[in-house]
Amino acid sequence: MCGIIGCVAEEPVAGILLEGLRRVEYRGYDSAGMATISGARLRVKKGAGRVVEIEERLGLSSLKGNIGIAHTRWATHGGVSDKNAHPHASCRESVAVIHNGIIENYLPLKKALTSKGHRFKSETDTEVIAHLIEAEYARVKDPLKATSAATKKLKGQYAIAVMFQDRPDVIVGARKDAPLIVGVGDGKMFLASDVLAFIEHTDRTIFLENFEVVELTRNGAKIVGPNGKEVRRKPTQVAWELSDISKTDYAHYTLKEINEQPQTVVGASVQEAGRVAEFAKMVKRAKSLFITASGTSYHAGLLMKFRLNKEAGLRCDVVVAGELREHAGFLGKGAAVVVLSQSGETADVMEAVKIAKKSGAKILSIVNAAGSSLARESDVVLLLNCGPEVGVAATKSFTAQVVVANLVVDAVLGKKRTNGFKELGEAVRVALETEKQILGLVKSYWDRPDFYFVARGYESPVAMEGALKLKELSYVHAEGMPASELKHGTLALIEKGTPVVVINPSGDAHADSLSSAEELKARGAEVIGVSDTNDSVYKHFVQVPKVQAKFMPIVEVIPLQLLAYHFAVARRNDPDYPRNLAKSVTVK
Ligand code: M6R
Repeated sequence: MCGIIGCVAEEPVAGILLEGLRRVEYRGYDSAGMATISGARLRVKKGAGRVVEIEERLGLSSLKGNIGIAHTRWATHGGVSDKNAHPHASCRESVAVIHNGIIENYLPLKKALTSKGHRFKSETDTEVIAHLIEAEYARVKDPLKATSAATKKLKGQYAIAVMFQDRPDVIVGARKDAPLIVGVGDGKMFLASDVLAFIEHTDRTIFLENFEVVELTRNGAKIVGPNGKEVRRKPTQVAWELSDISKTDYAHYTLKEINEQPQTVVGASVQEAGRVAEFAKMVKRAKSLFITASGTSYHAGLLMKFRLNKEAGLRCDVVVAGELREHAGFLGKGAAVVVLSQSGETADVMEAVKIAKKSGAKILSIVNAAGSSLARESDVVLLLNCGPEVGVAATKSFTAQVVVANLVVDAVLGKKRTNGFKELGEAVRVALETEKQILGLVKSYWDRPDFYFVARGYESPVAMEGALKLKELSYVHAEGMPASELKHGTLALIEKGTPVVVINPSGDAHADSLSSAEELKARGAEVIGVSDTNDSVYKHFVQVPKVQAKFMPIVEVIPLQLLAYHFAVARRNDPDYPRNLAKSVTVK
């Protein structure tokens, strides 16, 4: 969840690190800090708050030196405070560490270190790493070896960057189950949680594997594997560009990304020749088939399952990634697991992949980040091709996932190709025109404490997605569910004036959903219909264009994304940085 960046260069690095921090801030924004070495002194500045506030308060950019590490935090162990912000220094302040992950055995390690005289300044799990490395460094006098020896004592997940006061030429990094990559620039080298941190300087990247340790100087990177042997790996070029991560004229990334969707749906439809067919073949052949994902990606997985079950007649279970362990008995050789993830780094997802792979199951992934851990662990990969998604709320990645999932299902059904993407892009553009109407709804409902979203059949996951978006961006309590479930409990919560969104395209489930809307209205609910066809039961009607049934969720979700975004703005929340959340959830 935290954002890491380190840089060693021929020039001062504080400005480069500050810019990098801004770019990885979406990974965590509780606190931030930076350490550099200059004149044989290691200096640390850090504090609670957003990067911009800390820069204003402490002047991170004034730190001198051609080498440095910086961090944005999403708190796990230890509250949000100045002292718990990273970097953490060792007792003698000779070693500084930044960390993304959780050290599960930090308490016994802390106890052992304290008994040897180490004094701790924070409540974090991370600080033990600084002390451990300091102790190892005193023994082996080698940054890479000291880091390697220290990490062998850690249990849990980590991506770390380490600096040594008496080695102003070296940054050491190490990873296990948390992302860490090297950026190869001209006269500067980077270590970061993701490519966005340094994309301004280079698009040449080396992906580190679990248990590898890297020593970075401004001339290159030396990678050592868990057996102590050097690993030679060439950089790969990433497709993303700096222009992809600019907000352009939009007030927020979230709004920009919502508006990118006419292009997203077309981009996602273009896949490498033969890849969709290969994916579909493995889906069809699987003795047992699972789909797994978290959050919004899980909702896209539910949509995929619906068509696989109903149209392709394939039995498949969708399981939230953090719960796949409970279904491990049905995995094994011959099983296939379809994994959906924007980031390809979500810890729950990667844990599910680990469990599935261990059982012998094949991993078929639908992922946005091409070089991510998920992509690298998969047997077949389909990419979302929607460019970086910076807003914490998943928007364009969801619609891209729905497109790719449909390509796969159509191939499973034996269709040579899926058509209609130009028309779909145009329909999404039309759906975006609902924004004015959405602003009207926000005006009427922005201060309501509860919101409900219901739908039937294939559209049920859209209701769940609408509720998730509203919760995370506006902090309003929202629930999304199949409309059929209302009468089994939730109807008790409906009072005069309760807003309920009914997603109800024309088709098989239309009449039943209208009945649900009537039942809601009879109990005082104010029903907001989202559909291609109007009905008198709706107090408000948001019209979306009619597209092929399999693509309806794409046009239906657009007004729901806009609703959540404008709710957030009306309630003075920052839609790009919702409280307590982070973009890439790399802790379990
Ligand atoms: O990167 P992933 O798709 O694996 O992320 C999964 C969830 O963490 C993510 O969808 C999360 O629920 C979003 N904040 C929802 O908007």
